[in-house]
Amino acid sequence: MKKQWVAILILLIFFSQKSSSQTTIPNRKWWKEAVVYQIYPRSFKDSDGNGIGDLKGIISKLDYIKSLGVNVVWLNPIYSSPNDDNGYDISDYRNIMKEFGTMKDFDELLKGLHQRKIKFVMDLVVNHSSDEHEWFKKSRSSRTNPYRNYYHWWNAERGKPPYRYSQFDINHSAWKYDSLTNAYYLHFFSVKQPDLNWENPQLRNEVYNIMHYWAEKGVDGFRLDAFQFVSKDTSFPPFPKGYEKNFINYHAMVPPIHSYLQEMNNKILSKYNVMSVAEGAGNSFQDAHDLVDEDRNELNMAYAFDAIDIAKPEGYSVLQFKRIFTKWDSAFANKGWLSIFLANHDQARMVSRFGNDSPKFREVSSKMLTTFILTMRGTPYYYNGDELGMTNIGFDKIEDYKDMPTLNEYQYVKNNGGDLQKFMENIKFSCRDNGRTPFQWDSSTNAGFSGGIPWLKVNPNYTTINVAKEEKDANSCLNYFRKAVQLRKNNLVLVYGKYQIVDENNAKVYAYTRELNGKKLLVALNFTQENASFKTSINISKAKILLANYTNPSNNKILKPYEAVVYEIN
Ligand code: GLC
Repeated sequence: MKKQWVAILILLIFFSQKSSSQTTIPNRKWWKEAVVYQIYPRSFKDSDGNGIGDLKGIISKLDYIKSLGVNVVWLNPIYSSPNDDNGYDISDYRNIMKEFGTMKDFDELLKGLHQRKIKFVMDLVVNHSSDEHEWFKKSRSSRTNPYRNYYHWWNAERGKPPYRYSQFDINHSAWKYDSLTNAYYLHFFSVKQPDLNWENPQLRNEVYNIMHYWAEKGVDGFRLDAFQFVSKDTSFPPFPKGYEKNFINYHAMVPPIHSYLQEMNNKILSKYNVMSVAEGAGNSFQDAHDLVDEDRNELNMAYAFDAIDIAKPEGYSVLQFKRIFTKWDSAFANKGWLSIFLANHDQARMVSRFGNDSPKFREVSSKMLTTFILTMRGTPYYYNGDELGMTNIGFDKIEDYKDMPTLNEYQYVKNNGGDLQKFMENIKFSCRDNGRTPFQWDSSTNAGFSGGIPWLKVNPNYTTINVAKEEKDANSCLNYFRKAVQLRKNNLVLVYGKYQIVDENNAKVYAYTRELNGKKLLVALNFTQENASFKTSINISKAKILLANYTNPSNNKILKPYEAVVYEIN
């Protein structure tokens, strides 16, 4: 009898725990609980002295990556490539770029990450290939080649094709005439990045086979580059003059993109425990939802650019920033999932754009932004170097820039009599080369990045901003990032908790609560270089402080410049 009671009791406890974990947090997923660390391989660590970062370099820093606490690494493309666009122009999807190493190095890297319980996300670039890919070489060779239909061709006897805008082209035209077959091919990006024809089922199968190849190797996810552009209306109707100002409205999410994604999900994604994230989320919440709603079986996440795009050399509106994030959160409050980021390899440095990179405020504002990224709902994507508070380099001379679209745009402005001075001012602030300068490891030559001449100049501030120095300082940006990552990992409320904005119309302070199962946190962030107060009925005078970027954090609703505090309310 006694034994029976004990057994019943054990069963009761078991079922109550099981049901509470199931009902309290529905739909838990590893990729929702992940902190993604993005590594730009070309600039991370060079092992062989050719001035270009490589896989062996990353392998030598695996323990550093582990020490950050992150649990997913996303690497920009490492496939064979002639490097017109730093690897986003792929000539062989099953091989490794020579500068980066070999497949053996890749296998070792993947193993090293997995040994450290870090998952790996591969960049998949299939809106376009390189013009040096075998498919394209065959495709352009004759109009009747079986690969002709892998790309978009417009025969010249039909006249000139209707204008399509290319962001990367020196003349802004996305059609390139090829005399070999007297036809134009389409390239939304550079002339060396011809767009693949997703209408062709054979091409789609090639892509799925590539994904299968990498999934079998053990990668844990795919980031789908420029995916919102893959499908096109191939009747190529004329678009209104000037449409390029809003080209996303015309080029993105064209039907039947969702059926392609469902097919991809069915053939590959659903077969493996891989995460998937699309670059770009279309033009509307509907688009974004359709991409990531679980019931639709397409992707896990997408990332949108609305907020990223508001930072301008003259500043940005904190209110607008708050509104965008709040709107996006509300759109995904019940269904679907978001990505949270303030920088990546296509952006200038986070602290220079959204914080304040002056010596006085660099560290504190950088930590404040880190707090933001790690306390919002959605999977955080954190860009390498931001954990050190790395800043824009802001080149003055065009010769120092290496970014192909920037150099092409410079020529475009010049050829069309545009304002070159204004252009230079603008790229100094916003060019993506700012975010690609070599990673700053220590204060030795070239910041410890390379023994050779780095492919892009090292930011001269490496003697003060570097890993070696920040390791020794308990209050460094680096150690703050580690704390913030741990805080998120230890508090599921920061992953799944309800988000509620506080003092909505405050133009200086961004404050919000996160709440889950009776646990409630308040995050208060001053986005300005002055003291700023915020209003809330929440009593914080006795709240426990979980994270703060000042040693004497505020408990009176008046925040110091760029102050960030995470309070536990109950
Ligand atoms: C994406 C990548 C970017 C690249 C472009 C063309 O936007 O993030 O770096 O230049 O696609 O592939």
